[in-house]
Amino acid sequence: MAQYEELLQKLEEIQSNALNSLEKVETETDLQTWRTAHLGRNAAVMQIFTQLGQVSKEQRPLLGQRANQVKLALETAFEEREETLKKIALQETLVRDRLDVTLPGRRPIRGRLHPATQTLRRIFAIFAEMGFQIYRSRDVETDEYNFELLNIPAYHPARDMWDTFFTTTPGVLLRTHTSPGQIHIMRENAPNPVRVILPGMCYRYEQISARSEIQFNQVELLVVGRNITFGDFKGTLTDFARRMFGGHARTRLRPSYFPFTEPSAEMDVECFVCGGKGCSVCKGCGWLEIMGCGMVHPVVLQNGGYDPNEFSGFAAGMGPERITMLLHCVDDIRYFWGNDVRFLEQF
Ligand code: PHE
Repeated sequence: MAQYEELLQKLEEIQSNALNSLEKVETETDLQTWRTAHLGRNAAVMQIFTQLGQVSKEQRPLLGQRANQVKLALETAFEEREETLKKIALQETLVRDRLDVTLPGRRPIRGRLHPATQTLRRIFAIFAEMGFQIYRSRDVETDEYNFELLNIPAYHPARDMWDTFFTTTPGVLLRTHTSPGQIHIMRENAPNPVRVILPGMCYRYEQISARSEIQFNQVELLVVGRNITFGDFKGTLTDFARRMFGGHARTRLRPSYFPFTEPSAEMDVECFVCGGKGCSVCKGCGWLEIMGCGMVHPVVLQNGGYDPNEFSGFAAGMGPERITMLLHCVDDIRYFWGNDVRFLEQF
C-alpha cells in the first residue's frame, strides 16, 4: 500500500521536475538533451514502468495509467516547447534580416553608347544621306598598303608623320591611318566609280598625352570617278561640316601636305565655342582643324587601278574623338579609352 502511494507521489515529482527544467530550455541542443533525460530509455518515468510489479494487482493498472499520463504530458510539453523555440528563432531572423520596404529603390544603370561611337554614327548618318557606302578595312596592314601604294616609299621623310607599330613579321604593321583602305576599295572597284567612307581604329607609336593616344578612330572618305573636281571636293566637305556643326558653321580650306593627295589641305571650321573671336579651345585663332584632305594623287589613282588621265577623286580623313572633344570641350583625349564611367556617363 505504502509502495503504491510512494510511486504515485514520485510520478508527481517526476512530472513537475521535468516541466520545470523544460521551461529553462532555450536552445535546440538543450531541448534534445532534455528529451533524452526525461523521455529516454533511462528516464525516471520509464523506471516507474519497471516497478509496476511492486504494487498489488488492483493498483497496478491505476499506477500504469498514471505513469502513461505523465509520459504523455511530458511528450506534449516537449512538442510545445519545440514549437515555441522555432517561433522565437524565426522572430529573431525576421528582426535581424529586416527589410525596409520604405527605402527608395535604386535605379537600374542603363548602358549607353561610347561618345566616340555616338559621333561615328552621326558621321555615318550624314554621309549615308549623301549617298556614301560604309566599308571596313583591316587594322593589320602591310607596309605596302599603309605607305608605299600611298606614294610614301621606304625612307621617304614623310614617313616621320606616322610613328608606327611594327609587328615581328617584316612588312606587317598596325595601320597608322585609314588611308590604306583607299587602295583596297579602289582595287576592288576599278574602273567603276566609288563613293565610300571607311571608319576604323588606327594605331600610332606615340607618347600618350592629353593630345595624342596610341589608338584612335578615323573616318576615311574617298570619291573616285570621271570629272570629279575640286569644286565637288570643297562642296561635299563644306556640306558635311554644316550638317555636323550646324548650318551657320563657316569653314575654310588651308593648304597642307600629304604624299597621297595633290593639292592637299586641312579643313577648319569656325570655332563654335567663341564664334571665331578666339578662345582657349581654338587657341586664340578662331578656327578648329577638323580633317586632312585633298585631291587623290595621280600615283595613288594608278596604284588603285584607275587611269589618272580619265579619273580623278578626292579623299579626306577625320578623327571622331577629336571632333567629339571639340563638340563637348573635352580637353584630354585619354578619357576616351581610359574607361572611366564618370566620364562615359556624361554622354
Ligand atoms: N591619312 C591622313 C592622316 O592620317 C589624313 C588624310 C586622309 C589626308 C585622306 C588626306 C586625305 O593624317
